[in-house]
Amino acid sequence: MAKAKGVTKADLKRIDGIIAEYREQRWALIPLLHELQGTVGYIPPEAIPRIAGALGLFPSQVQGVISFYTQFYTTPRGKNVVRVCRGTACHVRGAKTILKLVKQHLGLEEGETSPDLEYTLETVACIGVCALAPNMVINTNTYGQMNPKKVARVFGRKD
Ligand code: FES
Repeated sequence: MAKAKGVTKADLKRIDGIIAEYREQRWALIPLLHELQGTVGYIPPEAIPRIAGALGLFPSQVQGVISFYTQFYTTPRGKNVVRVCRGTACHVRGAKTILKLVKQHLGLEEGETSPDLEYTLETVACIGVCALAPNMVINTNTYGQMNPKKVARVFGRKD
């Protein structure tokens, strides 16, 4: 299983710098989390006690907010987030094969991020363009009517 590397000393320095701007401002927890994630790419677990200490909260309170909002991530994410649709329409038109091929091309399982932080692989229930099934999304680009050749083309490899 591919694992992304954890937080670096440089990251911790940046994190502490961001947190310092919000010291004693409990109301600003969510803006702080957004800024931190926007800068570091995710919210490292090491940041949670630091945030709690600076804002006068318990770490469990900070963790609770992070867990509540699905847009916050506590693990590193790739520069390119690949989402393969597993909804019904995509499923009946071969999404399982597409997912298998994407996994092979990226060397990742669902939920994993490559060690170079280039890719994160996820699946989604439906992206709302069922007529083009099977679908895949990379960041904000949708790739419809996927087939094995298209998968190879998108990831820059020949069949
Ligand atoms: S089921 Fe895949 S887009 Fe709707």
